Amino acid sequence: MTSYSDLGLVNTKDMFAKAIKGGYAIPAYNFNNMEQMQAIVQACVETKSPVILQVSSGARKYANQTLLRFMAQGAVQYARELGYDIPIVLHLDHGDSFELCKDCIETGFSSVMIDGSHLPYEENVALTKKVCEFAHSRKDYVTVEGELGVLAGVEDDVSSEHSHYTQPEEVEDFVKKTGADSLAISIGTSHGRTKFKPEQCTRDANGILIPPPLRFDILEEIEKRIPGFPIVLHGSSSVPIEYVKMIEKYGGVLKDSVGIPEEQLRKAAKSAVCKINIDSDGRLAMTALIRKVFAEKPDEFDPRKYLGPARDELKKMYMHKNINVLGSADRA
Ligand code: G3H
Ligand code: 13P
Ligand code: ZN
Repeated sequence: MTSYSDLGLVNTKDMFAKAIKGGYAIPAYNFNNMEQMQAIVQACVETKSPVILQVSSGARKYANQTLLRFMAQGAVQYARELGYDIPIVLHLDHGDSFELCKDCIETGFSSVMIDGSHLPYEENVALTKKVCEFAHSRKDYVTVEGELGVLAGVEDDVSSEHSHYTQPEEVEDFVKKTGADSLAISIGTSHGRTKFKPEQCTRDANGILIPPPLRFDILEEIEKRIPGFPIVLHGSSSVPIEYVKMIEKYGGVLKDSVGIPEEQLRKAAKSAVCKINIDSDGRLAMTALIRKVFAEKPDEFDPRKYLGPARDELKKMYMHKNINVLGSADRA
């Protein structure tokens, strides 16, 4: 059994308290491989930003959970080597069972999400409470994220066709009964690169899809009912048009891509939203650069020569988000 403090990791408690007070959000970036991890750590060290490293069940299956845990431990050392000791959380993204959360906690995760959002309300409460009781009774307090409301799109192995917004009337009761440390809500974001159907959007003069705004009215209602409580936004990739265009220029097909505009995330980050989840944008940036290298250098076959540029682009993108969108730069 491993305790996260022995690995140099921290939980989200202090991070979130500071983020709410300071009017910014902590980046929660998913990683599945070494290049993504390097880009995240380099970007967060250079911008002096706290960071949450997220591991999904899919990532555990792809990369092996033991390797990912040791990579996170390595990330702490790597950040120090790069010259700045930023706070790093290792978080389970979309945990779907008590057993999975327990396993992660026992191998050194400092934070877990138990996603019971697809369950009937009372079952979601019971499952989240069970995970909280276990996580909070550890020598090192492990923080727990719960979820109310359903995001459309793919949530790991669970996919839902239709979203439903978080009902503000439920949040106070949920937080009180479960003991959760933060709450993921549904106010219009969704996972993946097609966050809205074209018929939900308008188009600008260039034919680019403009999405409807997030439901800030629901967020405000939630904030009134649980003042100062840490709120999490999943599905917060912006799906940058430059990456979509680059992928399409070099042979990809990404029809009807649309994300959450940066100004909406900037606004959310100033509220009680203190964790913003971003995965798809990293996938887009990597894919764009890899396609570019393949198209421009057809004789290249050294993976370092295409993964390297992809990693550099990822780092640039994460730095931009920390500095210009989430406001987490210089907060470490
Ligand atoms: O919420 C979903 C994350 O983007 C993780 O995706 O399950 O494909 O690793 P994944
Ligand atoms: P995106 O698909 O918008 O990047 O969302 C990622 C996420 O919510 C991970 O939990
Ligand atoms: Zn998510």
